[in-house]
Amino acid sequence: MRIDILTLFPEMFENVLGHSILKIAREKALVQYNLFNIREYAENKRCVDDRPYGGGPGMVMKPEPIFNTVEAIERETDARYKKILLTPQGSRFSQSIARDLATESHLMLICGHYEGFDERVRIGLDAMELSIGDYVLSGGEIPAMVVIDAVVRLIPGVLGDLDSTANESFNDSLLEYPQYTRPSEYKGMKVPSVLMSGNHQKIKEWQRNHAIERTLKKRPDLLNKTTETTDFADYTDKK
Ligand SMILES: C[S@@+](CC[C@H](N)C(=O)[O-])C[C@H]1O[C@@H](n2cnc3c(N)ncnc32)[C@H](O)[C@@H]1O
Repeated sequence: MRIDILTLFPEMFENVLGHSILKIAREKALVQYNLFNIREYAENKRCVDDRPYGGGPGMVMKPEPIFNTVEAIERETDARYKKILLTPQGSRFSQSIARDLATESHLMLICGHYEGFDERVRIGLDAMELSIGDYVLSGGEIPAMVVIDAVVRLIPGVLGDLDSTANESFNDSLLEYPQYTRPSEYKGMKVPSVLMSGNHQKIKEWQRNHAIERTLKKRPDLLNKTTETTDFADYTDKK
């Protein structure tokens, strides 16, 4: 997968893309990150934003440097890519959107700053608009990093263990079951004996029941979306 990132602050990405899973994905040649500094494509490099028409606080990102950057990329690549505008007004990013994006071969993430984009960027680019939550951050760089991290770890071959994303939270709209490692007892808290029993059938049942129980308790809203056939009312009564 090729990921193009359009930003006024490319240095912000160096650390995040250069560590852990995102770094490993690049080393395995499963992903290529390209950073584009929007300022470099502006007609006047000292002016990438301006005051809003109609008045109001702050500065708005001008359309021309963003369109110039996108068009420069389009000239050197195939047009079959997914453009994503990071904006608090976009659809809420989720694991299921991450899963869909992980099947794409080319993503372009466009990061806003200041008071955000001139509306013609939204109108003219025909991009998917994504928000990482109902709060306002200073720029689209951290949201872009969130999207990249969530997507790249789902690309086949990025994580060593093929199963490692299969039982994670939000898979089939359930939270993950509780996890334990050594030691078997810590500060008086014991690892449930079934997990040390070696009985794979019982361990699977325990994990599934605890995933359901945990989701019922912490995020009952998710259960409306699961394909689990369990009768949850019945399950709650048994607890
Ligand atoms: C200060 S925000 C602009 C907010 C805009 N004035 C509004 O009220 O909708 C600057 C930039 O940060 C990014 N941003 C802020 N919060 C975000 C969120 N929750 N999800 C995705 N991007 C966000 C966007 O790229 C946005 O253009």
